[in-house]
Amino acid sequence: MNTQASGRASIIRMIAALALLLVLTLGLVFLAGEAFYPWAKAIHVIAVISWMAGMLYLPRLFVYHVDAAPGSIQSETFKVMERRLLRAIINPAMMVAWVFGLWLAWRGFAFQGGWLHAKIAAVLVLSALHGYLSASVRAFAEDRNTKTARHWRIVNEVPTVLMIIIVILVVVKPF
Ligand code: HEM
Repeated sequence: MNTQASGRASIIRMIAALALLLVLTLGLVFLAGEAFYPWAKAIHVIAVISWMAGMLYLPRLFVYHVDAAPGSIQSETFKVMERRLLRAIINPAMMVAWVFGLWLAWRGFAFQGGWLHAKIAAVLVLSALHGYLSASVRAFAEDRNTKTARHWRIVNEVPTVLMIIIVILVVVKPF
């Protein structure tokens, strides 16, 4: 795809993502009765699972991508896999997890509770990692990555640790 066509595709994707966000927000406003709470939680957990699957798989792809020579077929294949994983799964899943998570926090807990504040802090760290991985997809796409396979193996452990902390906070609610 040439640069102009890829720019147009990005704009279309961005408009589609904003439209989805708008529909979700309006849906929440109109379906905001008590009965919607468990449904919102189910959608939240589905989005969280998809987000985490991508966050665990992407750095693993980077571990293998490091060993592929720039310009080789393997390297170009990794670029396509990384770009699609980020745009088709990780980005929309994160957006849905945030929209529904914030709604649950508002409707269910009025944003009160130590566990909730700690959970939101941990999810902000996860979102910062998301930003870092997103920038790294661009670096790999332009053959600019300078990090080693060991670096990506270590980064691969961060979402796992955060996920364990987040799930304990929301399920056990220890404080
Ligand atoms: C994006 C920001 C997030 C916010 C504001 C948020 C907030 C919430 C809230 C308020 C609930 C309802 C808790 C209840 O009804 O007892 C919930 C449920 C849940 N969240 Fe999140 N969450 C977020 C992201 C995440 C992430 C990243 C994970 C996992 C890695 C996660 C895992 C869960 C799970 C497993 C539940 C169901 C807990 C249960 O029913 O016992 N959330 N979330």
